Amino acid sequence: MAKIIAGVGTSHTPAIGAAIDLGKMEEPYWMPLFKGYEPAKKWIADTKPDVVIMVYNDHVNAFDFKIIPTFGLGCAEEFPIADEGWGARPVPVVKGYPELAAHLVQSLVLDEFDITIVNEMQVDHGLTTPMSLMFGQPKAWPCRVIPLAVNVIQYPAPTGHRCFMLGKAIRKAVESWDEDLKVVIFGTGGMSHQIQGPRAGLVNQKFDKEFLDGLSSDPVRLSKIPPLEYLRDAGAEAIELVMWLIMRGALGDTVKELYRFYHVPASSTAVGSIILESRS
Ligand code: DHB
Ligand code: FE
Repeated sequence: MAKIIAGVGTSHTPAIGAAIDLGKMEEPYWMPLFKGYEPAKKWIADTKPDVVIMVYNDHVNAFDFKIIPTFGLGCAEEFPIADEGWGARPVPVVKGYPELAAHLVQSLVLDEFDITIVNEMQVDHGLTTPMSLMFGQPKAWPCRVIPLAVNVIQYPAPTGHRCFMLGKAIRKAVESWDEDLKVVIFGTGGMSHQIQGPRAGLVNQKFDKEFLDGLSSDPVRLSKIPPLEYLRDAGAEAIELVMWLIMRGALGDTVKELYRFYHVPASSTAVGSIILESRS
C-alpha cells in the first residue's frame, strides 16, 4: 500500500531559487535562511520518498487568465521548467507518475472533488523553489513528483476548509494504491507576504507563528480561517497558506512535529518551514 508518511510546509519565494542558481547561498543575507533548511534537507535525504505530491500554485506561467483550474492535477510523464521572464531555472526536468496521478484523479472525483486533469504543464517557482530548498542541486530529482496546482491567484481561491477536506481525500486516494510507496506531501507558499500596493512588504510574525502552531496542534481551527482574514492580517499573498492545509489534511488526525524554521525576510516575504510526520 502507498502511504503518506509526512508533510512538508515551505515558502516558495522565487528569490530563494534565484539565490541558489546564482551561487549566493553563502552571502550574509542568504546564509541564515539556507542554514535553517539544512536539517530539513537532511531529513528528506534520509527519508528518501518515492513520490512527492507537490501542492503549489502556478503564477500565470502554465495557465494564463483564459483557463484557471481551482485544483489541477498534473498527470504528465514529465513537467518542463517554465521560463518566468529570465530563462528557465537551471534545474532538472520534473518527472511525474501518470499512473498514480490518474488513480488520484479517479479517487478524488468519485469522492466529489472536481479535479482538472492536466496532461501538459510547465512548472514555475511555486514548485521548483521548494524542490531546490529540500533536495539541493542534483543532476536529476531523486523522486517522482505529482504536482497539484491550486488557484490562489485569481479570486476566488478555495477556502481553507475545502483544502483541508481535499487533503483528507488525497490520503484516502493514496492508501488505495496497491504498491508500496513512501509518499511525502508538500504544502507551499506563504507565509505572510504582500508583494504589491501600499502594504507591500507586510509581514505578520504573530499570524505566522500561530499558523505553524495550529498545523501541529489544531488544524481544524486553522481550517475555519476565512479567506479575507488571510489577506487582511497577513497580506494578499498569504492566501497561499491554504495550500498548507491540503498537506495537513493528508496526514491524518495525529502528527508529530519533526522540525520548524522561521525567518524574515527573504525578498519581501516571511519564510516558514515545517515537517510533520503522520502518526495516524
Ligand atoms: C514573490 C512571489 C511569490 O510567488 C511568492 O510566493 C513570494 C514572493 C515575489 O515576487 O517576491
Ligand atoms: Fe507565490
